[in-house]
Amino acid sequence: MPQIPRDRWPESTPALLIEGYRFISNRCRRYRSDIFEARLLLRKTICMKGEEASRLFYDTERFQRKGAAPMRVKNTLFGWGGIQGLDGETHRSRKQMFMSLMTPKAIRRLVDLTAAQWSKAIGKWENMGRVVLFDEVNEILSRAVCTWAGVPLEESQVGLRTNDFVKLIESPAAVGPRHWRGIPARVRSEKWAAAIIQDVRSGRLDASEGSAVYVIAMHRDPDGKMLSRHTAAVELLNVLRPTVAVSRFITFAALALHEYPECRRKLLEDKDDYAELFVQEVRRFYPFFPAVAARVRHDFEWKGYRFPKGRRVILDLYGTDHDPLVWENPHEFRPERFGMWEGNAYNFIPQGGSDHFTNHRCPGEWVTKELMKTAVSMLNTSMEYEVPRQNLKISLSRMPAIPKSRFVVSGVKRIG
Ligand code: HEM
Repeated sequence: MPQIPRDRWPESTPALLIEGYRFISNRCRRYRSDIFEARLLLRKTICMKGEEASRLFYDTERFQRKGAAPMRVKNTLFGWGGIQGLDGETHRSRKQMFMSLMTPKAIRRLVDLTAAQWSKAIGKWENMGRVVLFDEVNEILSRAVCTWAGVPLEESQVGLRTNDFVKLIESPAAVGPRHWRGIPARVRSEKWAAAIIQDVRSGRLDASEGSAVYVIAMHRDPDGKMLSRHTAAVELLNVLRPTVAVSRFITFAALALHEYPECRRKLLEDKDDYAELFVQEVRRFYPFFPAVAARVRHDFEWKGYRFPKGRRVILDLYGTDHDPLVWENPHEFRPERFGMWEGNAYNFIPQGGSDHFTNHRCPGEWVTKELMKTAVSMLNTSMEYEVPRQNLKISLSRMPAIPKSRFVVSGVKRIG
């Protein structure tokens, strides 16, 4: 039986920290294989990239999510007991809960609330010298998504809650203080969210029926039981936090408008749904969610390789979205590539692959794209601004990535 190529180090975590988003691709090139094994976080781990690997990874007969995410991810980004670690019927029912929030009408409402926040913010920015776009957009999205979800957010709390959402996103793959800051942020956020769930259940908070906070507070798992207050809090944060995370893609979109000014012109011409092509390419090109993890459900063989029960497997999202077998010149930013894209749910996977309803693919994908389009339209048609000299470098060792300066603009003027 052929052996899965082994990374040459006894423990590859230090290399992962140095190489970041390139860790898996670098080794796939070195071993001439889209699959290899390494010890990561002290556990044997099978690493894979590419379309075929992605089809395998999303086979729920062969893989499960229970026990797959590393502890450091559960202590910060995910929390414990949420949808990410569920399988089978319970996962499907919980997923239905999230998908029911994603109707076109509900997404429209979130877009409108977000556009109103952008408009207010532009007024504020006109009176500011320098504006750090990433920080500002985090706040815009926090305010909008809380209103949308039916979550009360007092003015005095906006900064604290927004910062905590950001810390949850920043901390899972970090070492040292950036990681540690995520742990109290998780505790604070869950305490806050659990109190809101309790208020909805007791009738103290009058939440409207289709709102996210109401749907989550009242959801019942297939066993007929309501979610525990803690689990409901984790799931409420699973809506709020990732919506705020869209600010990262928005910052990358602003960077792309700056670095590829011809895109700005094409967006203004607004032909052939160029905005759609543009946001797709931003999601493909820029590094955000590096990889996803699962565990082998029971022993099986694939291409002659043995996958033993319990083994952790990770799928490289960034590497798959830059796979030269699928993407011509993958390191070129070219929205037009999506014009005649014959893609599928396994080779373009910035937010996971397979099916939204029956698998773990991100339920927030449509929201993400619409919020990006809103932002691009605001940047292009509602304001003028300069981009002063700054360090726009994106380090691929830092996960999640962000331009060093977080994209500073100045001289903001409202137009249109
Ligand atoms: C900022 C942009 C976003 C990125 C890069 C992103 C990325 C991802 C990724 C990679 C996954 C895991 C897929 C897998 O396990 O196979 C995921 C799952 C998930 N995302 Fe997103 N996401 C984003 C926005 C959103 C939004 C706006 C929501 C709001 C509802 C959301 C809610 C979720 C939830 C609840 C899951 C778990 C789904 C499941 O396990 O079935 N995400 N996302």
